[in-house]
Amino acid sequence: MLQRLLIEKMEHRIIVGILSFLGIMVLVGWIAINENGRMKAFQDQYLARSIERGAALFNTNCASCHGNDGRGLLGIAPALNSPYLFGHSFLADIDRRIDTLTRERDAAATTDERKAEIDALIADLNSERNSRIAQMQPAISAGYNPERPSRLANLGWSGTLNSYIYTTLVHGRPVSGLYWPQGMAAWSQTAGGPLRGDQLEDLTNYILNWDKGNNWTIDDLNAVVQHPINPVNPATIVMASVETVGTNVAEIEAELVSYTGDPVNGQALYNGAAFACMGCHMNAAVAPLTQNTYPNLLNGTRLSDPALAGYTADRYLIESIVAPNAYVVPGYPAGVMPQNFGDRLTYQDLADMLAYIKSYDDPGAQASASAG
Ligand code: HEC
Ligand code: HEC
Repeated sequence: MLQRLLIEKMEHRIIVGILSFLGIMVLVGWIAINENGRMKAFQDQYLARSIERGAALFNTNCASCHGNDGRGLLGIAPALNSPYLFGHSFLADIDRRIDTLTRERDAAATTDERKAEIDALIADLNSERNSRIAQMQPAISAGYNPERPSRLANLGWSGTLNSYIYTTLVHGRPVSGLYWPQGMAAWSQTAGGPLRGDQLEDLTNYILNWDKGNNWTIDDLNAVVQHPINPVNPATIVMASVETVGTNVAEIEAELVSYTGDPVNGQALYNGAAFACMGCHMNAAVAPLTQNTYPNLLNGTRLSDPALAGYTADRYLIESIVAPNAYVVPGYPAGVMPQNFGDRLTYQDLADMLAYIKSYDDPGAQASASAG
């Protein structure tokens, strides 16, 4: 009877057809709506397992150089668990506010009363900025520069952090043995290493998992044991046409006024193979210790020598580098320090190195600073 009712009459068949079609559409729609959530849960689970496998791989293969917690090991390898690798700036929010206020102050319509108000606000922000920088001092002494907080930006890497890490694992850093005791090896089987592509992905996921986004703290930064070193030593790629400083101290001093020294690059130059300043200046038996030079200039120990009457700290430092025999530090022989740095250093090199030497302005910070 039911069968007859439903399918025997043509109209009934059509109605049954339409209803089942609608039913199927609803079902398909329901699945489609839930598919995203299901996929997301599936992906999260997949990622969690990948991170777990990455952690195990990290402990066996990487922790011996990068530290168990990824914060680096002193003089061995740089931190990966670090706001610097993830490009977090501790000053960006303040700088944005200062910028907005400055633009408002400079606008024609701003009243003098409001200008005064803005100046007070900016002064507050600047002191907040300075106090944050002061909190970062341990990291700064170890080579971190709060004004250049992104590792990838400093390297000019335009890809993602994911690709930066993954490709580093694939081919290693073939030249990094020049500026680290042991360089970063290639880990992929493609490049002759021990690990498969999926294992490199697991490691990458594990490292990326350290990102804290906007929740990085200055304590995290100061907990970093070893910061990266700039990989390219500009001194090794100086072209013949680049102007070097020469040996006229007064002229160099005047010219340097228009350069801003970068202490981090200065440190890389100072430690690098091209000039090898550190090779002598880390051993007091060979040359005066780097970390004492600027404190001695500030506290009068060095400049009280009558032979240096009228010298400023800058003039002394420049002359010590480009004309070492003009004044020989008591207790050390003349002629040991190379005499030709004036022909090899550009103004920028020299400005950077001076900034580095002057970063040792607090004798108390020596211990941590000399490690960086
Ligand atoms: C023998 C010591 C050593 C081991 C083992 C080692 N690394 Fe490295 N790694 C280094 C050094 C040194 C550098 C710095 C290279 C440079 O400055 O160019 C580095 C750099 C890196 C970088 C780039 C960091 C940056 O800021 O540029 C990543 C990512 C990295 N290593 C991940 C790993 C992973 C993952 C493993 C394990 C599979 C590993 N490393 C094993 C020594 C090591
Ligand atoms: C071969 C060893 C050697 C190298 C390399 C070397 N120095 Fe020196 N440096 C010395 C000696 C020795 C003295 C002390 C005698 C003198 O005044 O010349 C000295 C003195 C100095 C002084 C004065 C220190 C003070 O406390 O008053 C400065 C500054 C200086 N060097 C900077 C540099 C820089 C920068 C480089 C690299 C561009 C460098 N040195 C490379 C051996 C070296």
